[in-house]
Amino acid sequence: MVAGRVEGTSATAVAEPSETVRRQRVFSGMQPSGTPTLGNYLGAIRNWVVQQDQYDNVFCVVDLHALSLPTDRDTLRANTLNLAAALLAAGIDPARSVLFAQSDVREHSELCWLLTSVTQFGELRRMTQFKDKSAGREDVSAALFVYPVLQAADIILYDADLVPVGDDQRQHVELTRDIAERFNRRYGQTFVVPKPDIKAEGARIMALDDPSQKMSKSSGRPMSYIALTDDADTIRRKMKRAVTDSGSEVRAVPDKPALVNLLTIYSLLTGEDVPTIEERYAGRGYGAFKTDLAEVVVATVTPIQARIAEYAADPGAVQAILADGADRARDQASRKMALVRDRIGLGAG
Ligand code: TYM
Repeated sequence: MVAGRVEGTSATAVAEPSETVRRQRVFSGMQPSGTPTLGNYLGAIRNWVVQQDQYDNVFCVVDLHALSLPTDRDTLRANTLNLAAALLAAGIDPARSVLFAQSDVREHSELCWLLTSVTQFGELRRMTQFKDKSAGREDVSAALFVYPVLQAADIILYDADLVPVGDDQRQHVELTRDIAERFNRRYGQTFVVPKPDIKAEGARIMALDDPSQKMSKSSGRPMSYIALTDDADTIRRKMKRAVTDSGSEVRAVPDKPALVNLLTIYSLLTGEDVPTIEERYAGRGYGAFKTDLAEVVVATVTPIQARIAEYAADPGAVQAILADGADRARDQASRKMALVRDRIGLGAG
């Protein structure tokens, strides 16, 4: 837990005896932009949940990041609470992990500004997510451009060692490493340089209607993704419509990218390896496979949805968990910021 860490001296981030015995710290975040998708679940949430006992965990609903695209007050607040409820329902346990809303810990914004001074304009301009999200838009905010610096602040504020994310966040974590190293060189050892934790499977779940694109709600095509809150019939319909490749054999081979994606989803959700699944559906065609895959997804999301409904009936419980998480996060963040301010020479001393 954040509060349990040995912190607060000028040697905070350097290897000290306690560092060799302490559990590694994990930090990760998710944007409150509506219900998470199956891509969010398989690329991130599920790994956060299963690794909870292994690490000292800090998870964040990054509402400040959501401001990089136009937002509406009521939707933002509701999305923050809904995402927190979905994470709890999926298995994030506040007794084992700190869960909080980013904007409740002001140090994220403060560190972001300080880190912009050790970040190059050219580095941000090269970020593929910035290029993708700004393409074709007239109203590109400066927040969208600075977005990866805020992400770096999120991570290094807590001395995270590992950042479990999907493949699309790899470049942001690499930039975070460069920023932390640069700060340490300029001002002395201050931050832990984090590593991305990106799994070989599930780090890039593709759209159901186009296996060349990442599964994402922002596609605006509901048939392209499964949301964790989709009901059973919607899931069945989406799976039925999911594109398949030419031929009829259920095989994960390079010229069948749609099947590779569907088999990956099946394998991750059942724990069975791909060859076992291929064998089961040999000669049975795509239809039987997709019908069963829909049931595998339904069986995964149904218990999560039941718990989401319980939290929806008691929003005060979610707010209390987030408030407690913010207190624990702030405790660490404020000590780190005192060190950072001193290292830079800010304020009257
Ligand atoms: P976000 O909110 O877009 O996505 C949350 C997590 O879900 C993963 N993900 C996927 N994984 C596999 N297949 C997919 N189709 C898929 N779509 C999304 C993402 O890789 C991510 O791990 N910038 C981040 C949020 C953030 C953050 C942080 C993450 C802010 N600060 C600090 C880590 C550490 C984002 O927008 O993720």
